[in-house]
Amino acid sequence: MKNILVTGGTGYIGSHTVVELLQKNYNVIIVDNLSNSKKEVLNRIEQITGEKPIFYKTDIRDKNALSDIFSKHDIDAVIHFAGLKAVGESVEKPIEYYHNNVYGSLILFDVMRKFDVKKIVFSSSSTVYGYSTNYPFKEDEPTSATNPYGRSKLMIEEILKDIYVSDNNWSIILLRYFNPVGAHKSGLIGEDPNGIPNNLFPYVSKVALGTYERLNIFGNDYPTKDGTGIRDYIHVVDLSLGHISALKKLSDTGVHIYNLGTGNGYSVLDIVKAFEKASGKKINYTFTDRRAGDVAISYCDPTKAKKELDWEAKYTLDDMCKDSWNWQTKNPNGYDK
Ligand code: NAD
Ligand code: UFG
Repeated sequence: MKNILVTGGTGYIGSHTVVELLQKNYNVIIVDNLSNSKKEVLNRIEQITGEKPIFYKTDIRDKNALSDIFSKHDIDAVIHFAGLKAVGESVEKPIEYYHNNVYGSLILFDVMRKFDVKKIVFSSSSTVYGYSTNYPFKEDEPTSATNPYGRSKLMIEEILKDIYVSDNNWSIILLRYFNPVGAHKSGLIGEDPNGIPNNLFPYVSKVALGTYERLNIFGNDYPTKDGTGIRDYIHVVDLSLGHISALKKLSDTGVHIYNLGTGNGYSVLDIVKAFEKASGKKINYTFTDRRAGDVAISYCDPTKAKKELDWEAKYTLDDMCKDSWNWQTKNPNGYDK
């Protein structure tokens, strides 16, 4: 297996995965419509790896364009990152989310079938565990959705399972990511959200940088050790390496589901403390109301991935904070220098 088509390959997790793929001598073909990423990412990938991946600025919903790409390249497998991912926005714009994520995925799967490419790794999310309190979550935990974004992930998981039932030649891996954070150690690629960040790490980084005065901590009355929400943060490079391990597993047909997390839960206040240590800056914060839709606690049992993929997360919380801060200080305006 050599030629890997990566949808969403200029995005945050996609770009880190492309770096690992190139460094392991895979040929990479990126398809991204740049709706949430910048072309500059390609130069950065080249600076790290010495290689510029093949890139198509294409929307995965454009069936003709996607078919052309499949006919030009002898694709062996697809890693499918492309999608919209903001939970709050998905509540405001469900049609756009289902159209982009679900319809886009259907077009991709249809083109894959047409070209007899039946190996795929799909970016799912811990959000499919819904409001379950049965942590640490195992892969056989019942799933549910709490918003259109999460529902789009669940729908795509179900669609892929149905595709396998219809044709047992497919090899499908569903990776349920916990909370990806951090950046490549070079500081050349990292997370570059548009506008005011929704997520904790990019927001805390901007507070440390002085862009924002303080962090709003969404709730201090959760049933946790300090009242703030607990998550399973995973370094984006560990997550990327999980995809390389998953590619090897694509030699088995079937549908395989894996949690990608560390198995450790950290509270918002743990993150504030760790980020202060990594940056040497004071992070001011205020407690505000809970954010609608947030769960108190989410962390996984990652033992299935360890057993079957021979993968486990290696980076510590200090590494995650150090690498986020390195990226942030080297790129205070993200990719827009
Ligand atoms: P990202 O927004 O940085 O990357 C997604 C990329 O897909 C972007 O470059 C965007 O331009 C592209 N894209 C979106 N719609 C497209 C379309 N129709 N056609 C072509 N390209 C399109 O997000 P990310 O954090 O790298 O996430 C990657 C995947 O992992 C997503 O599917 C996301 O839902 C999933 N995921 C992310 C997280 C997280 O916290 N970052 C957690 C769980 C799952
Ligand atoms: N938080 C704050 N203040 C902020 C931002 C976040 O207190 O400004 C808190 C949240 O309440 C939560 C924790 O920090 O307790 C983490 O929040 P994030 O927004 O960073 O991450 P979430 O766990 O809410 O959601 C992320 C992705 C979703 C994905 C989910 C599970 O944003 O897309 O992980 O994979 F569905």
